[in-house]
Amino acid sequence: MTDAPLTATALTATTLTATIPADRHANTLSPLLPSLAARWSPRAYDPTAVIDEATLTTVLEAARWAPSASNMQPSRFIVARRGSASFATINDALMGFNRAWADTASVLIVSVAKLSIDETRENPWARYDLGQAVAHLTIQAQHDGLHTHQMGGFDGPAIAAAFNLTEDQAVVTVTALGVLGKLDDLTPELREREVAPRTRKPLTELLLVND
Ligand SMILES: Cc1cc2nc3c(=O)[nH]c(=O)nc-3n(C[C@H](O)[C@H](O)[C@H](O)COP(=O)(O)O)c2cc1C
Repeated sequence: MTDAPLTATALTATTLTATIPADRHANTLSPLLPSLAARWSPRAYDPTAVIDEATLTTVLEAARWAPSASNMQPSRFIVARRGSASFATINDALMGFNRAWADTASVLIVSVAKLSIDETRENPWARYDLGQAVAHLTIQAQHDGLHTHQMGGFDGPAIAAAFNLTEDQAVVTVTALGVLGKLDDLTPELREREVAPRTRKPLTELLLVND
């Protein structure tokens, strides 16, 4: 459930520019939809930015309208705006390497999967559907000029207890949603990670069969 910090690289604070590189775009084999290519996971958020309610609704609507197995819609969300008690609770439950930057996001969103179909049957696609809903949310946010950063590094039981979740409601991720901030506001260690090259495995490694 964690995404531990990278070890220090050869980059030092003095080699970095004051702004986050404009082009964090994916280096793709063929052109993607602009919001897909532009999406990345920053840690620098504007600590003063407030997302207007209409835009926040749009982002959440993208999650609501994602497909799901048999249209069972197992995705649930805890939406916490910066400054609220819920935001503080979620932020406190993050692992230190996430707490180091996530408190400047405008909104923290806990993604929760409803695990059962009914009293006797599990929904085997609950987490898959939740991930797909969050994926749609991230792309809508990118399209609307916002940024997102999903996290698996948190104390799930602490969040479940704080929000009185049932055993049928699994905390899966926390997503930071906000407006891109300044590289200079990050610690030197976080700055290095913020400008590290974005990489992916080659497509050929992903394709088990490509007949
Ligand atoms: C399920 C999941 C859990 C993640 N957990 C963390 C995390 O705890 N901390 C973190 O900084 N990034 C986390 N990430 C972000 C990934 O590290 C990031 O998406 C990946 O390195 C690719 O970078 P990109 O999103 O900029 O393309 C997580 C992403 C996902 C989808």
